[in-house]
Amino acid sequence: MRHRAAVIAPSIALGVRSTIVKLRDNARFDTVCIHAGQVPDPSTGAIITPIYQTSTYVQDGLGVHKGYEYGRTHNPTRAALEGNIAAIESGREAFAFASGLAATRAVMTLLQAGDHVVVTDNTYGGTYRLFERVLRKGGLDFSYVDTSDLDATASAFKPNTKMLFVETPTNPVLRITDLPAVSALAHDRGVAVVVDNTFASPYAQRPIELGADMVLHSTTKFLNGHSDSVGGIVVSVRDDHTDWLRFVQNAEGGIMGPMDAWLVLRGTKTLPIRMERHHANAERIAAFLASHPKVKLVHYPGLPTHPQHELARRQMRGFGGLIAFAMGTLENARTVLNSVRLMALAESLGGVETLISHPVSMTHASVPYDHRQEIGVTDDLVRISVGIEDCDDLLEDLAQALDRV
Ligand SMILES: Cc1ncc(COP(=O)(O)O)c(C=O)c1O
Repeated sequence: MRHRAAVIAPSIALGVRSTIVKLRDNARFDTVCIHAGQVPDPSTGAIITPIYQTSTYVQDGLGVHKGYEYGRTHNPTRAALEGNIAAIESGREAFAFASGLAATRAVMTLLQAGDHVVVTDNTYGGTYRLFERVLRKGGLDFSYVDTSDLDATASAFKPNTKMLFVETPTNPVLRITDLPAVSALAHDRGVAVVVDNTFASPYAQRPIELGADMVLHSTTKFLNGHSDSVGGIVVSVRDDHTDWLRFVQNAEGGIMGPMDAWLVLRGTKTLPIRMERHHANAERIAAFLASHPKVKLVHYPGLPTHPQHELARRQMRGFGGLIAFAMGTLENARTVLNSVRLMALAESLGGVETLISHPVSMTHASVPYDHRQEIGVTDDLVRISVGIEDCDDLLEDLAQALDRV
């Protein structure tokens, strides 16, 4: 698959090492993941961008500097990551923040009191909490709708709707939204489209190529991939969004630190090969669960029984590394969660190691009971973030845990 023009690091844009840009405009995705945003370090030739752990930069004279003045505003490690992910997501620029929620919050500062947002109903619990408990206080209004239903989405727009905030696949029941279709609905009404692409990863889905105006990630997940950093990033294409996000990243200051930027930059180099294994393992585990007599229901876009299986096939490359399944009762779910030995009982997702969790009491604890029932987040639901271990070990672990039910 060919890829759109790669974004270069600001140090290159500033002319520091303009002759070293090796990446061609039509570089393919796997090559972009490894090289975009980075050049060998200008002072030493180090192939890996250093962790510039500095708060300020010495200036040559008054008003004469190398493009870096203060650590909140500019950091070369963060800039390399931003250039890398902007290219990976086919965007123009990217802005890295201290967490996925800080990135979401920054996007929401594009709005003002009185504005209305249409949101995927089955979004991450922390996103729901940010919208309902924090941003509502500032006068924003949110409607939660099943964005996989185009008619329901169309009827949710109001005259004051300024943004459509989509998560696809959703967390945790993996509903899929038709991104070109909802983007067209929104754009017809002058509404900006933001996609939280954390669950899919840009390997599986690139929303800007499908019509979105902004993409955001919790880099904590697949982009970092090693469960050793917390961060978030927003990728934009429109000038007005890009200018505001650049301003607000500095003005609010919720930036990603250089060490975290370096860890995510290391992670994106192996994104494609990690995702291939995540997907292959998840497909086998989903098939195993779907045929197991003690499992009531499996949510996985790769299964032909999934309501948007055909859409997932069209819109995504692979079906993702997340699976949710219903065990019939909370007690059964508890038995599985407490009986696995290799899979770790933990929040989060997207790391090389397999994690198992209970959305109702963990990731979605802040979502009210009634809303959880509407979106299918039931007490008996178990979620697996499938890692890249040998799949036979994972299947054996799951089988012995299910035997105890
Ligand atoms: C889909 C999704 N978006 C956003 C977030 C928030 O990211 P962070 O935990 O890095 O703030 C999460 C966290 O689990 C998530 O799953």
